[in-house]
Amino acid sequence: MIRAIQEDITTLKVDAIVNAANSSLLGGGGVDGAIHRAAGPDLLEECRTLGGCETGDAKITKGYQLPARYIIHTVGPVWHGGDKGEPEALAACYRRSLELAKEYQVKSIAFPCISTGVYRFPAERAAQIAVKTVQSFLSEPSSVQEVLFCCFSEADLQTYRKLLAASDNA
Ligand code: AR6
Repeated sequence: MIRAIQEDITTLKVDAIVNAANSSLLGGGGVDGAIHRAAGPDLLEECRTLGGCETGDAKITKGYQLPARYIIHTVGPVWHGGDKGEPEALAACYRRSLELAKEYQVKSIAFPCISTGVYRFPAERAAQIAVKTVQSFLSEPSSVQEVLFCCFSEADLQTYRKLLAASDNA
C-alpha cells in the first residue's frame, strides 16, 4: 500500500524512515538536521563509521531516539538542469532504500521528498520518479507492505495525492 501524508517524518512510528542526507552522512540542514536532532548524538557516532555514501546509494543505521527502528540514509542528486543523470540518480535513491528495507525485513517505510529542498530537484518531476520507482518495487515480492510519502508542505501532499489517484485509475 502506498499513501501520501503531511507530517514531520521524525514523528512516524514506522519500521524505517529515509533521510535525505549528503555524501558525508555527517548531518546537515533540512530533514537531515531534523532527523539528527530527534535521534540524538548516538546517530552521528554510528554515521561516522559508515565512510560516507555515494549519490544514488543508501546506508542503514539504527533509529536511536526516534520511534522508527531504522534510518535509511540516501544521497539525492543536486539538480543541475536534469541532463546530468539527476533523474536516474533520484530513482536509484528510492530503489536502493527499498532494497535495504527488504534486506532488513522492514514492513513499513516513510520517504521524505528527496532532493527537492536544498538540492533543488523540481518537486513534481521528483514525485513522478518517486511514485513510479516505488510502484515498480512493490510489484515484486518483498517484506515491504506500506510505503508512506511523507510530505512537509501542503503543495507536495497535493502533488503526491494527484499522482497516486491517477495511477489508481490507470
Ligand atoms: N519531515 C519531513 N520532511 C521534511 C522535514 C521533516 N522534518 N524537514 C524538511 N523536510 P532537504 P535535499 C522536507 O533540503 O533537497 C541537507 O542539508 C523539505 O521540505 O532536507 O535532499 C542534507 O545534509 C523538502 O521537501 O533535502 C544535504 O546537504 C525535503 O524534506 C541536503 O540538505 C527535502 O529537503 C539535501 O538536500
